[in-house]
Amino acid sequence: MQTKLWKVIEQQGIQEAAALLKNGEAVAFPTETVYGLGADATSETAVAKIFQAKGRPADNPLIAHVATKEQLEKLVSAIPPFVDKLINAFSPGPLTYVLPSNGRCAENVTAGLSTIGVRMPSHPVSQMLLRECDIPIAAPSANISGKPSPTTAEHVWQDLNGKIAGVLDGGPTGVGLESTVIDCTGEIPIVLRPGGITSEQLEQVIGRIMVDPALANTDRRPKAPGMKYRHYAPEVPMWLVEGSAKELQTVITREQKNYDRIGVMASNETASLVTADQMIALGAKESLAEIAANLYDALRTFKEGDIDLILCETFPEAGIGRAIMNRLKKAASVYVQE
Ligand code: TXA
Ligand code: MG
Repeated sequence: MQTKLWKVIEQQGIQEAAALLKNGEAVAFPTETVYGLGADATSETAVAKIFQAKGRPADNPLIAHVATKEQLEKLVSAIPPFVDKLINAFSPGPLTYVLPSNGRCAENVTAGLSTIGVRMPSHPVSQMLLRECDIPIAAPSANISGKPSPTTAEHVWQDLNGKIAGVLDGGPTGVGLESTVIDCTGEIPIVLRPGGITSEQLEQVIGRIMVDPALANTDRRPKAPGMKYRHYAPEVPMWLVEGSAKELQTVITREQKNYDRIGVMASNETASLVTADQMIALGAKESLAEIAANLYDALRTFKEGDIDLILCETFPEAGIGRAIMNRLKKAASVYVQE
């Protein structure tokens, strides 16, 4: 028998959160990627509260969230045909379109750029909230700038309790990594940030895409302003270790002479083969989606004082693995090839 599971969402919570947003307050809410910290995208003073609460640099533009294509059309001056195809295939969902802005959103949403990032999240709570407010909601991830993005309401609470008007708790998010950001202002779309929709999926729908060269070459200035900052950083220094479980164990043993307590993040298979002071098994090697979903919670689990160094396994850079490795490389300070 197929047993049904109902997620009960407090309707009153959605209405109160929507009222606060319409009133110019900042409220956190779940999306299918990570929790967002929302504010009225048409109000400069409301949007300023997001930057204030997160401690976010002002030159890093925000994504405007809408419920429907009609609402998206009201924020941009043109939608090229390939974007129509992408919208049909992937929206609502974890894909953000960078398009020419028509200036309807406040200037601090776009950090003064002539383009705007727009996304239609698919999470039922974000959909209900956006429909209830009926205004575009600017929302970065609901974490203190530089920390791992929040995938549960508890993570948001840890970072922003006392600094924002409310948090809608919708349980753990599904994808666990942010949306894919795709620049749609030129003839060929360019992936600025790998995320929930993979390059393979995009190519299936529109053929040729490009990837921002800055994603491969760390010397180049990325086109998405937010990609240049150190991000997703755990409390404790982290090294990425490329190699087999045996090679990872060699590094653990060697570094135990330099660091008191070592934490390890790895696939279930590797985790079962190595010993360290604290182990987090992220999911089966075969299931990169599970590893993605558990990544940010794992990064937040290692605490300063308990652990002195985190060693993390690397993953294949295909499919969602590209987004996983993009975040891990930004979170880590050292890349070890054994
Ligand atoms: O999944 C997500 O995208 C989450 C949820 C809450 O929707 N939001 C999120 O927002 O990750 P944030 O602010 O943490 O990341 C937005 C990224 C940044 O790298 C920013 O620089 C880029 O999108 N971005 C936003 N507007 C842009 C624009 N007009 N041109 C280029 N990049 C832009
Ligand atoms: Mg973020």
